[in-house]
Amino acid sequence: MKRIGVLTSGGDAPGMNAAIRAVVRAGLSRGISTIGFKRGFNGVLMRSSSNQDDFTVLTSREVSGTVHRGGTFLMTARCLDFLEKENQIKAVENMRSLGVEGLVCIGGNGTFHGAASLKELGFPVIGVPGTIDNDMGYTDYCIGFDTAIDTAIENIDRIRDTCGSHERASLVTVMGRDCGEIAFHTGIASGAEIVMVPEIPWSIEEVAEKVKWAAMNGKNTMIMIFAEGAGSSLTSDVDAICEGNESLSGISGKYLTSSGIARIIEVLSGQEVRATVLGYTQRGGSPSAKDRVIASRLGAYAVDLLAQEISGVAVGLKGEDLIYVPVEEAMNSKIDPAAVSEMASLIGTLAGI
Ligand code: F6P
Repeated sequence: MKRIGVLTSGGDAPGMNAAIRAVVRAGLSRGISTIGFKRGFNGVLMRSSSNQDDFTVLTSREVSGTVHRGGTFLMTARCLDFLEKENQIKAVENMRSLGVEGLVCIGGNGTFHGAASLKELGFPVIGVPGTIDNDMGYTDYCIGFDTAIDTAIENIDRIRDTCGSHERASLVTVMGRDCGEIAFHTGIASGAEIVMVPEIPWSIEEVAEKVKWAAMNGKNTMIMIFAEGAGSSLTSDVDAICEGNESLSGISGKYLTSSGIARIIEVLSGQEVRATVLGYTQRGGSPSAKDRVIASRLGAYAVDLLAQEISGVAVGLKGEDLIYVPVEEAMNSKIDPAAVSEMASLIGTLAGI
């Protein structure tokens, strides 16, 4: 193999730059040059008016000073057009015309779907897990998760300070799409009393009861972590709770926001509750040491495999070991339900309510 490509796709994650750098330098150490495609699979489709806007040859110097930077310098996007077969075929033609013989795709589930479609067309691909959600069950770790948790707990520590001063509870919304990993880890690391996740049914009445009970037992501040997808496992009839209650007018089950949930908990518990959405702060920032090291290991490993003519796989970590599995298996893999239950039970044990 003389030339490979690399792209980052889907939501960005701290550590993606370290992974790109590792791909480029591991390639150069084996006499392989790397083309960086911009904006995920859009770059491979090469539809910009100028080619420079779609791809660039990545020299060793071009990846200098990137290991510590957040975001992805290749930029990223979600490319719905890539779901169409004709575009996938075009992508393979484009890459072959540039002499690209294999592609490293850094991202989450959607990215791995794109990679799997190229594999189906016989093009060598390697998936590298990069998503703050850490929602891919085949690997113990996805690039960006550690930094996202650090960012979240730094903010929650601040929120707890002000909550303590005012003797309030706080509902803090974290990212994670349909996975509770960020919420659980953030919850444990920040000493949260309650965590609501999409995987486990929960009710607003029960949460409000806990807040009331905790306050009666002398807890003057409480942190509740709300995973952004946790509305899907809510069992309460919100409209029935709000109906006829003037303090809850304007809140509806259909368009329920985290501020709406905080307000209902406040009214039902009689304790002041504030809502904060951490949002995209969790996706940005300089990667932690752990993210830099793992991203570097996974990026270099992807190139090692391509050089050995192993492809159509996703790389990952099991314990401290580098592993690979077929990319289709990786993209459909879910977090072990036993691990989810263990986390939920630990939150309950440590809550001290
Ligand atoms: O997959 C990472 C993630 O940050 C999810 O936690 C979140 O649901 C989603 O991306 C947000 O995506 P977008 O950047 O398209 O708003």
